[in-house]
Amino acid sequence: MIKGKSIYCFMAWLLCVAVVTGCGGSNAPEDTSQVVGQAPDNARKVIGMSQCNLAEPWRVQMNGDIAAAAAAHPELDVQFKDAQNDTLVQRSHIEEFVNQGVDVLICSPKEAGPLTEPLKKAFDAGIPVIILDRAVQGDSYTQFIGADNKIIGEAAGRWVAEALKEGGKIVELKGLMTSTPGQDRNSGFRKGLEGSAVEVVFEADMQWLEPEARKEMESALARFDKIDLVYAHNDPAAHGAWLAAKAAGRENEMRFVGIDGLPHEGLQYVREGILDVCFEYPTGGGQAIDTALKLLAGESVPKTIVLPSRFFTPENIEGGGAWLPSPAAAQ
Ligand code: FRU
Repeated sequence: MIKGKSIYCFMAWLLCVAVVTGCGGSNAPEDTSQVVGQAPDNARKVIGMSQCNLAEPWRVQMNGDIAAAAAAHPELDVQFKDAQNDTLVQRSHIEEFVNQGVDVLICSPKEAGPLTEPLKKAFDAGIPVIILDRAVQGDSYTQFIGADNKIIGEAAGRWVAEALKEGGKIVELKGLMTSTPGQDRNSGFRKGLEGSAVEVVFEADMQWLEPEARKEMESALARFDKIDLVYAHNDPAAHGAWLAAKAAGRENEMRFVGIDGLPHEGLQYVREGILDVCFEYPTGGGQAIDTALKLLAGESVPKTIVLPSRFFTPENIEGGGAWLPSPAAAQ
C-alpha cells in the first residue's frame, strides 16, 4: 500500500483533473447464451453479438450487461456467439451475422488486425457496427465503446511509482499484445513510471489468461530473488501471479496490481488482501444496447464513447473507490 506523503502525490495527480461521475459496475446475470425477444416478427429487431471468448468472468459480465439492458426491450432479439478465443472462428461468426442480415452488429473482437476486414465488410454492407473494448484498425464502424486503457495504464504506473518511491524491481504481465488494451495498458504504464526508480525486470505476454500468467510468474520467481511488485494487465493474471508467488511462499514479499474490478473478482481480491490496487474496466455492455436502440430509432450517435474508470485500494474500497481523470482532462 502507498504510505505517508506519497499517497498525497498520487492523489494530487488525480485531483488536478476533473472528477468523473457516472458508470459503475453492474450486476447482470451470468448465463446469457441466447436471449430471444417476445415481440411480433414484424417489430422484432435482431442484434448479433460476437464475443471473442467467454472463458473470463469479465466477458461473461459483458454479455450479462447486454442481456440485462436488452431485457427491458421485448422487441430486441439478441443473439450471442462465442468465438472461444479463436480469431478465425470470430471472423466466421461475423460473416454469419452479415449473411443473416442482422439489424445491428455488436462485436468485442479478440484482436485488431485480422478482425478489421470482416467488420468493415459488415459496415460497408449497411449494418450498424458497434465495437466494444478492443479496437480495430481504421474507422469503418459506427461506434467504439470502451474505457481509456492509456489513462488506466498511466494511473497504474503513477501508483506504482509512488508505492515504490525508493525504487524496486517489478514484473509486468501483459495482455495479448495484438489487442489494443494490451498495447495501451503497457504504453500508458511506462509513461506513468517515467522519472521513477522502478525497474521492470521481467515482462511477458500472458494473452489475458490466468494459467499463462501463473506460468510466466513461475519463471520470474525462478530468475529473481527479489520482486517488489507485479503489474498485471487484468485481474485473472494478477491472481495467477499471486498463486505462483504463494506456492513459492513469496506472496508477502511483493505487491499486486490488477485491472477489471468486477465485484466478485478484482474487488473481492482487494478485500481479501490479494491485490493492493485494482483499476476498474467497465464492460460497456449496457451502453451498447443504448446505442443500438438509438440507431434503430434512426438517431445519430457519436463515433466514440469513452467510459470512466475508478481505482480501488483497501483504504478506499468501502467508500466506492476514486475516479481516474476523464480523457479530456488528462490530455
Ligand atoms: C477478458 C479481458 C479482460 C480485459 C479485457 C481486455 O477477455 O482479458 O480481463 O480487461 O479482456 O480486452
